[in-house]
Amino acid sequence: MKVTVVGAGNVGATCADVLAYREIANEIVLVDIKEGFAEGKALDIWQKSPINLYDSRTVGVTNDYSRTAGSDVVVITSGLPRKPGMSRDDLISTNAGIVKSVTENVVKHSPDAIIIVVSNPLDVMTYAAHITSKLPRARVMGMAGILDTARYRAFLAEELNVSPKDIQAVLMGGHGDTMVPLPRYTTVGGIPVTELIAEDKLNAIIERTKNGGGELVKLMGTSAWYAPGSAAAQMVEAIVKDQRRVFPVCVKLEGEYGIDGVYLGVPVILGKNGIEKVLELQLNEEEKQLLEVSRGHVKDVMEVLDKINATA
Ligand code: NAI
Ligand code: 2OP
Repeated sequence: MKVTVVGAGNVGATCADVLAYREIANEIVLVDIKEGFAEGKALDIWQKSPINLYDSRTVGVTNDYSRTAGSDVVVITSGLPRKPGMSRDDLISTNAGIVKSVTENVVKHSPDAIIIVVSNPLDVMTYAAHITSKLPRARVMGMAGILDTARYRAFLAEELNVSPKDIQAVLMGGHGDTMVPLPRYTTVGGIPVTELIAEDKLNAIIERTKNGGGELVKLMGTSAWYAPGSAAAQMVEAIVKDQRRVFPVCVKLEGEYGIDGVYLGVPVILGKNGIEKVLELQLNEEEKQLLEVSRGHVKDVMEVLDKINATA
């Protein structure tokens, strides 16, 4: 299996590293626009192989998409990250141009690839990649839900002093403050979380999760990469191994949840064809309202992108 990761920065290089050391793909191509940067990161990952014992081959290129030809999966992480004081939406004008040109190059050389977008603002960059690629919706998706859910699971594991492995959860909606928490669907070793934690503590964890990205930007001066890179690699693994994993993934909704034409995180089955199925949960009134707020927010930012495209 051949996987390309575009953007050899913090998230892209982490994703390539996980793909290599976990032998998720046997050929990994890292692409960046900065001369020599991807080559250096790829060489470093390859030189780690005799230490960590893997044989996935990682190569880096500067903007040379011919080397990416025939990729099965492409992960797009190119673009600016947030700095303190910025929202994800502040990145739209710069990152929309980057995601558009990268997607054009990707599709030209790998017309059969499945594309996973990571660049922010995530839901709208997934839209940008989808309309540029003209691929079926099953093959263009965004990574955010696995990350947001992982943050929530990690905070819960810490609070309950249990292994994060035993916490199962799903969050829906846009990536960011308008994500939709679903505590009804959160379990700890099969036990509903609401039986193990007081409501105020759970609400505090949900709030912390919503601001999980911002918390890290404040601490580090840039956004996170270990969990985001690993989350993107987990999506690649589900696809290349046809695992049919159930993950929250950003995809264009086409009538599910009563929403049409907006890109939002929803639980899906991920397998060799990409999004094998969108799973529709029965939401209660409160959850429906939260999803509507999320939909409205993402739709507004999609319209900003439409205006940028109309004047380009
Ligand atoms: P970074 O600045 O470390 O890396 C970005 C890389 O993209 C740089 O090396 C840059 O040279 C490269 N790049 C820029 N234009 C390019 C082009 N046209 N072609 C190829 N490469 C190009 O940033 P980081 O931390 O890796 O974040 C990348 C993106 O992912 C940001 O937009 C960030 O907001 C987003 N992100 C999204 C998350 C999510 O949950 N969806 C989580 C974390 C980050
Ligand atoms: C995050 O949530 C910034 O979207 C990025 O860490």
